[in-house]
Formats: sequence, structure tokens, C-alpha cells
Amino acid sequence: MALVTGLEILGAAREHGYGVGAFNTNDMEITQAILETAEEERSPVLLALSEGAMKYGGKPLTDLVHAMASEASVPVAIHLDHGSSYASCLRAIRAGFSSVMIDMSHADEEVNIRETARVVEAAHAVGVTVEAEIGRLGGVEEHVVVSAEDAFLTRPDEAERFIEASGADYLAIAIGTSHGANKGKGRPFIDHQRIRDIAARVRQPLVMHGASGVPTTLVERLNAAGGSLADASGIHDDDVRQAVTEGIAKINTDTDLRLAFTTRVREVLRDKPAEFDPRKILGPARDEMREVVRQRIRLFGSGGRA
Ligand code: G3H
Ligand code: 13P
Ligand code: ZN
Repeated sequence: MALVTGLEILGAAREHGYGVGAFNTNDMEITQAILETAEEERSPVLLALSEGAMKYGGKPLTDLVHAMASEASVPVAIHLDHGSSYASCLRAIRAGFSSVMIDMSHADEEVNIRETARVVEAAHAVGVTVEAEIGRLGGVEEHVVVSAEDAFLTRPDEAERFIEASGADYLAIAIGTSHGANKGKGRPFIDHQRIRDIAARVRQPLVMHGASGVPTTLVERLNAAGGSLADASGIHDDDVRQAVTEGIAKINTDTDLRLAFTTRVREVLRDKPAEFDPRKILGPARDEMREVVRQRIRLFGSGGRA
């Protein structure tokens, strides 16, 4: 099936009240785990590549992901995650991406609007749709430690102004999540009222970054197999489920895939010290990631929508 735009997938999700996963990939095994499971679950999906992934894998990686996605029997968008500039977005579009994120959330509102609008104009001219962000998360953006009182959470009036002025197709909002495996002590606070207030003013699909669940069972297995991950915490499944009913349509997951991959690699190396065939190490890691993708698709409610 030909690639579809992010908006094609996410517009339907927001309209019908389900979420769709944007899963980060960096190699063949991760891409297979995402696509094959999406096909089994009959779910649309976004394959996300960060600038770091593109630097790591170069053109061979983007070509591979593109070829695999184009063979899928479910709707797939290839998405640039956290594009840092107009030039970066153009490079992704040229590499065949059908969705790009321009992340100017660290800039002031005027610059964010201006740069997002530039990307929107170029992307729309060639049939690509655009994600933008306002407000700030922790983790990758590293500007603030997010708390419920944090002034950097997305303001509903700003969200409305921003989406109208920039022309972005879907909007990432800061509602208490952060990237990585340490999202705060205990159950991280998610500002559901804020999601509802933004959704009341913005009809476009809303995006939740930093949405990984960081399952305790995976963290325990990782540490039992020689890992050392302290203070791990993720977003509770109930918060994700509720956020979807409130207007979140795109849900980003990278950390859970990384945890699954590393846990299984550690276990294989621990349990089979004589093994040195990469396929016997990476194959089980791929199977472990499939289960993460399956559980996330079922949590988001996107299974059976393709
Ligand atoms: O939000 C960022 C993603 O987890 C990608 O991370 O830049 O290390 O590839 P990365
Ligand atoms: P996690 O670190 O929670 O998986 O979030 C990933 C993400 O937001 C990618 O853009
Ligand atoms: Zn992110």
C-alpha cells in the first residue's frame, strides 16, 4: 500500500475517538516489529525517525524503512520526529517522509509560528502533513522539570492561536509527560483538564509525546539480567486511555521499545553464553518488541481500524 500522510491517519483517529501509535525506529528489527504487529492487529501506524536515527542509519535506513512501509497492508506514515529546523524537515520530505514534525517549542511564540508556517507551506505543496509543538516537556527538550504547576505546560488560548496562525495539521501539547524511562516519582501527573480545555478549542488531532508506560515487569527483567535502571516510571495505562477520550490522537512510544529490546538481548546473552549468531540475539529482541507494539495498539484502540 502506498504511504499515507499523518493527517489521513490521525484525522480519522480524532474524529472517531481512538489513538494511533507513532513508534520510533532505528533499524530493520524495530521496523519489522512495528509493521508486522500493526498488520496482525489491522492497525494504522506511524513509523517515527528522529534526526538521531537518520544520522545513525543514513540513507540506507530511510530507504529500508520506506521500502518496508510501502509493502505494508495497513496505512502507514513515515514521520520525522522532533525536526529541529526547516532544512531538516525538507531533507525528510526529500527522503520520502509523509509527515514531519517541526519542533520549535523552545523558541518564543512568534518564532515558533513563523518557522512552523514555513514548514507547513513547503510540506503542503508536496502533499506532506505537519506536526508542531507548543509548551515544553522534560527529557529530550531538557528545558524544564515538568510538574503540575509548571508554567511551561501548554496553555489552551495559546494552542488555539498557534494552530490558526501556523496552519499545522496536528499539535503536540505539554500536559505533564516527559521523554525517557524516568517520568517522575510514583504515578506521573497528567493534566487531563488541560487536554480537555485544549481539545475544546483545537479541532486538530492532539499529540502526546513521552507516553511510554515503562512497564515494571520489563524493568525488573532488565535489572535481573544485569541492567541497572533506577527510579524508572512511566505513564499509567489509564491515563493514556483517558487522554485518548479527551482528544489525544497520536501517541509516541520509543522508550518501551528500547527497554524491550535491551531486556531480551541481555537475557539471551546471559542465558546462552555460547551464542554468537546475531540473528539468535536480535530475533528474540524483535519478538519482545512485537509484544510492546501489540499491547500499545490495544491500549490506544487502533486495532481493527485498518
Ligand atoms: O523523543 C525522542 C525519541 O525518543 C528519539 O530519541 O533522538 O535518541 O533518537 P533519539
Ligand atoms: P517515550 O520516551 O516516552 O517513549 O517518548 C517518545 C517520544 O515522545 C518520541 O517523540
Ligand atoms: Zn517526543
